[in-house]
Parts: sequence; structure tokens; C-alpha cells
Amino acid sequence: MSGSDLLRLGVLGSGHGSNLAAIGRDIDQGLLSARIAAVLSDQPGARILELGRTIGARTECIVPGLAGGRLDPATEEKFVAILREEKVELVVLAGFMRIIGSTLLAAFPRRIINVHPSLLPKHRGARAAAQALAAGDQVTGCTVHYVDQGVDTGEIIAQQKVEVRPDDTAETLQARIQFAEHALLPSVIATFARR
Ligand code: GAR
Repeated sequence: MSGSDLLRLGVLGSGHGSNLAAIGRDIDQGLLSARIAAVLSDQPGARILELGRTIGARTECIVPGLAGGRLDPATEEKFVAILREEKVELVVLAGFMRIIGSTLLAAFPRRIINVHPSLLPKHRGARAAAQALAAGDQVTGCTVHYVDQGVDTGEIIAQQKVEVRPDDTAETLQARIQFAEHALLPSVIATFARR
């Protein structure tokens, strides 16, 4: 397949980057006709940036002007400029712990997706595995959804259930949810790549 047939991805993350690694794995195995064009973060020390460099993607960190959860418009404009320069067609939030605003959303209508470690609409926001344990859920899971201006509120694209075990801690449960994410997220991206 020639480079121009590959879906160009921009991956945004704040943390470890295991979902980025899973996307890279499926590309390497020929399961996903995509190219990771850019990896962007709001956290200078995030491992996802190191991984992005290893993959050969353009890798940039932009620390938002505002503290807290929401991206400010000036920062979003910088993100948009890089994503456009790299001709990104699908933006993937993979552990990006900021709320996206109208500048980024307007630049990529229905082209920004997020992976979240719960069966939405349950357990939005941070520490979703701990939320599922606290609620006494016997089943939780992960969701890939379109991003809108809310926190984990956009239209659901796909979900995968994960059983909660009696001896689970938030950490063991989160690890099994992530294992499910590493199959679900690349499979959803593949449906965009085929369009
Ligand atoms: C993932 O489990 C993702 O679902 C979660 O952060 C983790 C990032 O892991 N995202 C959220 O909780 C967003 N609300 P990774 O950096 O290893 O891919």
C-alpha cells in the first residue's frame, strides 16, 4: 500500500502511551492501514512522547497556558497547526487528560475519538476503574467514542466488556481494561482507515 493510502493519525496523550504502542503494533502487523504522523502531549515528561519519537512520528509537547482540565484556545490553535501541517485525518485521544474545546473540535468535525476505561455513560472522568469498584459493578469495560465539548459524553462508537473479579484492586482492574483497550481502539481506527 502506498503512503498516500494510509490514514494519517494524530495521537494526543498525557501518560504512558500503551494505547499508542497498541496502534503501532497493529500497523506493524499489517492490520491497520495507517501512519502515526504526530504524537502530541501536554506533559513534558510523558512516556508517550518518547514512544512517539521511537515510532518516527513528529512529536511535540505544548504545555497549556491554563492550569487544570480544559485546553485554552491559544494552545488548541497550536495543536491544530501541527496536526494540519502533518495532514492528520483522524485525531485519537489516548490517555489525554484535558478537556477539548471548540477550536480543536471545529478543526476536525467528527474526526476526534477518545478511549475511556469504562462502559460509558457510567464512570466518566478520572479513575474510572476505581469508580467501577466503588460502585460494586460486576462488569465494566472500555469505550471508544466521538469527542464533544463534555467530559466523556460524545457519541459511542464501540465498547468492550471486562469482568470485575472479587479480588480486583483499581490497578489490576485498570490493567485488564487496558488490555481490552489495546484491541478495541486499533479496531475502531481500522474502520476509519477503510472509509
Ligand atoms: C487509558 O486507560 C485511557 O482509557 C485512559 O487513560 C489511559 C491511558 O493509558 N483515559 C482516560 O481515563 C480518559 N478519561 P496509556 O497512556 O497507557 O494509553
